[in-house]
Amino acid sequence: MTIRLTRNYRFVASHRLHLDHLSEEDNQKLFGKCNNPYGHGHNYVVSITVKGPIDQRTGLAISVADLDALVQHEVIDRYDHRYLNFDVPDFTSKPSTTENMAFAIRDHLLANWQKALGVGAPQLIDVKVQETKRNSVTLALIN
Ligand code: NI
Repeated sequence: MTIRLTRNYRFVASHRLHLDHLSEEDNQKLFGKCNNPYGHGHNYVVSITVKGPIDQRTGLAISVADLDALVQHEVIDRYDHRYLNFDVPDFTSKPSTTENMAFAIRDHLLANWQKALGVGAPQLIDVKVQETKRNSVTLALIN
């Protein structure tokens, strides 16, 4: 019996999307309000989806406490209440778009996935990052 489980996490962070090699006008056109010069904040929601068998003894697909600890350490502690452009190495040399954030989160989670969740850990299959009510991206690791 295989199941998919999704757990949501929240953090707040500020940023500015801007590419130095583009003109002010092109930056504004490309990034819209996210290019405003003095930055702005978002209430981010990150949804982590895993897929794996249900442990017949516990009835669970994953230890939620272990997943929470991993996400806290690898994502929340890095991003929460930070100015992403300056405080977070992931985004000092590339823009903190939701797309780039999804890839960075995937990399951080997978780097410690088995160590945190054990050998029989379920697979990470989706990383979804919601930046606004209108805008989210989903990085599908497995189709
Ligand atoms: Ni923004």
